[in-house]
Amino acid sequence: MRIVLVGPPGAGKGTQAAYLAENLSIPHISTGDLFRANISQGTPLGKQAQEYMRAGQLVPDEVTIGMAEDRMNQADAAGGFLLDGFPRNLAQAEALDGFLREHDLSVDAVLDLEVPEDEVVKRIAGRRTCRNDSAHTFHVEYKKPQAEGVCDECGGELYQREDDSEETVRKRLEVYHRETEPIIDYYKSKGLVVTISALGKVNEVTQRAMDALAAKAA
Ligand code: AP5
Ligand code: MG
Repeated sequence: MRIVLVGPPGAGKGTQAAYLAENLSIPHISTGDLFRANISQGTPLGKQAQEYMRAGQLVPDEVTIGMAEDRMNQADAAGGFLLDGFPRNLAQAEALDGFLREHDLSVDAVLDLEVPEDEVVKRIAGRRTCRNDSAHTFHVEYKKPQAEGVCDECGGELYQREDDSEETVRKRLEVYHRETEPIIDYYKSKGLVVTISALGKVNEVTQRAMDALAAKAA
């Protein structure tokens, strides 16, 4: 399956993607995680992305689309993938369609995570992210690590993402409403969208998502 996950910052895309990708045996591809890995390795791509991410702005399409396509071209993604944070505007959605069309493929479903803004703010304020791998995320209240400040999965140091400050989160939400929400209508017009509430416990949301995707495929 080729699935696109959409939702505001802090909706739980990365958290859900980890479980869904495992259940569906497809790789989890997060453009945000790819950028953060490039930043920590000091690559030219990371240097290009850093200032935009710090400001809560989208990284330019010419950088983002190439990076996403390179990742989707890797062998483990041949049988399907779960995209988290890509596409994030109409130009990226059209580029993804073009890329898939070249391979006689298409998006199978778009899972839209709905969360009220006050919950998003609570989730982001308490999030702690692993320095080794930003796909490893925790929450000071909702998903506590076994040892404070230490990643359960790899022992890495937990920190607060630089773009998780109140001011930058406000900017990211604004960008989400303006740039990313229009892709939901784009995919609705193709009959691909399943919307679920992302409120409740993490495993409840995963079950809701699995049920919605199964109903869509039926
Ligand atoms: P990205 O990394 O994609 O960030 P985002 O979309 O803002 O989303 P987040 O990662 O902040 O939240 P999430 O939905 O993954 O939530 P999580 O699971 O962590 O992008 C960052 C930046 O990179 C962008 O601003 C942009 O600059 C750039 N970028 C990325 N992609 C791009 C693109 N395509 N084009 C251009 N630029 C791009 O959960 C949040 C917290 O809540 C965690 O602490 C978690 O433990 C907790 N939580 C999760 N679920 C629950 C639950 N059910 N109950 C309670 N707590 C929960
Ligand atoms: Mg994320």
